[in-house]
Amino acid sequence: EDAEKGSYDHYMLKEIHEQPVALRQTLHGRIDGDDVSLEDFPPGSFEGVDSVQFVACGTSYHAGMYGEWLLSKDGVEANTFIASEYAASPAPVDEDTLVIGVTQSGETADTLEALESARQRGARTLALTNVIGSTAARTCDDALFIRAGPEIGVAATKTFSSQVATLVLLAERLVRDLTGSPTDDHAARLDALESLPEHVEVVTNDTQAADVSQRCLGDNGHFFIGRGNAYSVALEGALKFKEITYGHAEGFAAGELKHGPLALVTPETPIFAVGTGHYQNRLESNVNEIQTRGAPVIAIAPRTASGLVDTADEFLPVPATHPDLVAILANVQLQLIAYHAANEMERSIDKPRNLAKSVTVE
Ligand code: G6P
Repeated sequence: EDAEKGSYDHYMLKEIHEQPVALRQTLHGRIDGDDVSLEDFPPGSFEGVDSVQFVACGTSYHAGMYGEWLLSKDGVEANTFIASEYAASPAPVDEDTLVIGVTQSGETADTLEALESARQRGARTLALTNVIGSTAARTCDDALFIRAGPEIGVAATKTFSSQVATLVLLAERLVRDLTGSPTDDHAARLDALESLPEHVEVVTNDTQAADVSQRCLGDNGHFFIGRGNAYSVALEGALKFKEITYGHAEGFAAGELKHGPLALVTPETPIFAVGTGHYQNRLESNVNEIQTRGAPVIAIAPRTASGLVDTADEFLPVPATHPDLVAILANVQLQLIAYHAANEMERSIDKPRNLAKSVTVE
């Protein structure tokens, strides 16, 4: 086991650093100029589909939310469901509904059950997974592989980045097939996607998260906020933090702070604010609301977000890129924060208490 970890103390840190390689594999051969080239999905593959539902658990649920945001902004009806809730209250589907199971392992029982419920009611199903030959890949009508390579650490890292990158590609195909037009700004976004591996590498080589994580060793709450696609990353940042540090962490839609969570904010609760360039002024107002209550704000954004650079108590930069992709980079900083905080607390990082890599019971 130690040999496989190479020079890393934990699989999680190794897998964080593997993200540039994983993303190169994910993207390999799939960007074709201003269009995408997705093996089994040539242009027209999704003709007839009129809406998309994502079903998923844990980290994969957050990737599904990111996918929903990508599709919705280009006019495709999309919704994301926690797989176990989908079983409890199945969303209506018909043969024009595409239900996408986002599942790294392809074996999560709740996700498989949700996919089966959709299939039985006539929907078309697609597995977005890392594992060829997995149950989800075999039982869905179609499969699209994220090609991240094996992930051993229970806390998902590189598979999230590869899931979202694959969803950017899939969104391009879906939007073209469903609306007849490419995504807004598609050429610039696909260009930026090609550069994603090197941008992620800049973040994984950045050592500032280790210092910032020192703020996160207390017993108080740790809150993560964002808007739009950064909301899904705020949830993911909080999940990663609670999974491996056992510290209390919650992600909030930044605009919801004033509707309740602000009551939790004190000088002892560090707040991580994820800035992407979308909805920037509004996020800055949220940061002001927090700072008025004395809480330290750690902003994660490109340096071009000068409002955040100037006001945040700590600033963790990510490379400037297309605003639709910035949240993927910010998520890597949050992975590093969680990792370094957990390492400082000497937690069982690769096998957190009570958690399993793949949950095959409902
Ligand atoms: C478990 C893991 C999580 C993972 C979730 C979904 O709870 O601990 O890290 O996100 O399952 O797994 P999947 O394989 O379906 O993506």
